[in-house]
Amino acid sequence: MKDMPKLELHLHLEGAAPPAFIRAQAKRKHVDLSRIFDDRGAYAYRDFTDFLRVYEAACTVLTSPQDFHDLTRAVLEHSASEGVIYTEAFLSPDFCGGGDLSAWRDYLAAIEAAAVQVRAESRLVMRGCITCIRHFGPEQARQIARCAQETAGKFITGFGIAGDENIMKTKDFVYAFDAAREAGLGLTAHAGEWGGPDSVRDALRDLRVSRIGHGVRAIEDPALVDHLADQGVVLEVCPGSNVALGLYPSLAQHPVERLRRGGVKLTVSTDDPPFFHTTMTREYQALADQFGWDEAEFDTLARTALEAAFCDPETRSDLAKRLEAR
Ligand code: ADE
Ligand code: ZN
Repeated sequence: MKDMPKLELHLHLEGAAPPAFIRAQAKRKHVDLSRIFDDRGAYAYRDFTDFLRVYEAACTVLTSPQDFHDLTRAVLEHSASEGVIYTEAFLSPDFCGGGDLSAWRDYLAAIEAAAVQVRAESRLVMRGCITCIRHFGPEQARQIARCAQETAGKFITGFGIAGDENIMKTKDFVYAFDAAREAGLGLTAHAGEWGGPDSVRDALRDLRVSRIGHGVRAIEDPALVDHLADQGVVLEVCPGSNVALGLYPSLAQHPVERLRRGGVKLTVSTDDPPFFHTTMTREYQALADQFGWDEAEFDTLARTALEAAFCDPETRSDLAKRLEAR
């Protein structure tokens, strides 16, 4: 499982920070973050809202481009050890200088430099998908879209929205997504995680995204499942995240297999792996154990992710060769 080549499209960079990394930063900066960890040193949260609070508290000790350089290296080195050959990471200028464009450029340079180093060492390719945070509001999202427009290119290839799905209307973010689309960025939105099927419809109609982050609650509306399948909308499914956050009581109840049978294009990711005690290999193993997925299914996942990746044609064809070569 570990050696199987994997492409991950839904990974929040800060959400991938190991607890020990955050604790070390907190210690260096004399910040008391003990309240966000349990007795065993893992992130501790009660529910989704509390998860967002803990996540944001952890981010308060990531205060410099160097911190993000070190974080990027640690995260990508771990992904490479899991057999990941391509990572599209959600990058949040909100947590990198508060959305200030000039600060964002410095943070981005540090993140990209780390990605270049890891690429040279392990061949793992990273691209960045700039992500606004829904509960920070539409005005701030416009500023984040401006960061995206100004830094779009070979490395920054996508734009998305994360955060609390039940706050604000999707329509409020049309301006930010229009700006990102004009800059040539690929588009994805978190929907159908805490919001029902209508949130998926809203994201497709208003934000005109080609991918949906999670989207699993589409299963509650059979007509929507058919629509996703017909239109080739790709879901970034994160089963371990959904179970850890209590959206489904266990993987057995998770709709991923029903969505697959319904003909929906699927990819699998970890979202915020240390928060959910998961890795790409664990996700794969759990799907094999629970639903009997075999090499053919995992190969389809990789090919779907390759097709849906927000990268340039040359990168896509290099990655295709690596999938063929195995
Ligand atoms: N930010 C980080 N992880 C998230 C998730 N699962 N849903 C919404 N926003 C997030
Ligand atoms: Zn996410």
